[in-house]
Amino acid sequence: MVPITHSKYLDFLSKFGIGSAHPGGFDLTKEIFLTEKINKTYHILDVGCGTGQTAAYLAAQYGAKVTGMDINPIMVEKAKNRVTKYQLPVEIIQGSIENCPLENNQFDFIISESVLAFVNAPKSLKEIYRLLKSGGRFIANELTINYQLDTSNKEEIKQFYGFDSSLLETEWIDFFEQTGFKNIEIHPQKYPIVQNNQIPEYQYSEYIEPELFMVMIEHFNMIAKYEGALDYRIFSCTK
Ligand SMILES: C[S@@+](CC[C@H](N)C(=O)[O-])C[C@H]1O[C@@H](n2cnc3c(N)ncnc32)[C@H](O)[C@@H]1O
Repeated sequence: MVPITHSKYLDFLSKFGIGSAHPGGFDLTKEIFLTEKINKTYHILDVGCGTGQTAAYLAAQYGAKVTGMDINPIMVEKAKNRVTKYQLPVEIIQGSIENCPLENNQFDFIISESVLAFVNAPKSLKEIYRLLKSGGRFIANELTINYQLDTSNKEEIKQFYGFDSSLLETEWIDFFEQTGFKNIEIHPQKYPIVQNNQIPEYQYSEYIEPELFMVMIEHFNMIAKYEGALDYRIFSCTK
């Protein structure tokens, strides 16, 4: 198993059990699928599924067979609790998308919501490509920077979030193309990067380290400090 990069932000998300912990929140998740032709024959992978809100929604709303995968054992436990509680046809597994334990060409659709910035993006995109069936679709809601930041700012963002990289839109596109993806599109977003108008879902752990209580505020401070620089894009593409 690939070790989890230390990230106070990810520790916070997992201990507080924040659902839809990505730009645009759950409202954007639901919108993304409206233009995809998902049905109950689909096998879908939610990469870095967190507490499993999207994976559960895909199974409940579309009747699809869903696999959710996450590297973090606390996230995995919370996602498993969710799908067991609602008796959904969702398999939740622990694993890393950099070196995924799943077989080739088995998914019709793969989604990653705010995951690829935390991992080695080229390696993970190769794995996603390998897992997709020919003609399968991949949608990523990923963090971008709108212009190059200086090294100390990049480092501050990297340290706080535990990112592997902060990429420009064009750098993401290059990685998608180099992996072999086709029909790469970027969809405009109307939601702000933080879930201002949505109340996130919480699934608290029994014990939460005191230092994690400040992380939400630190996150908002980072978003305010890097307003205009930190952003996100919805990418869609086909194998
Ligand atoms: C910002 S959270 C987003 C979680 C979820 N997609 C959501 O929108 O709520 C990033 C997630 O990526 C997971 N993650 C980080 N590195 C990973 C890896 N190498 N493989 C799989 N998941 C990973 C984290 O554990 C965390 O659950």
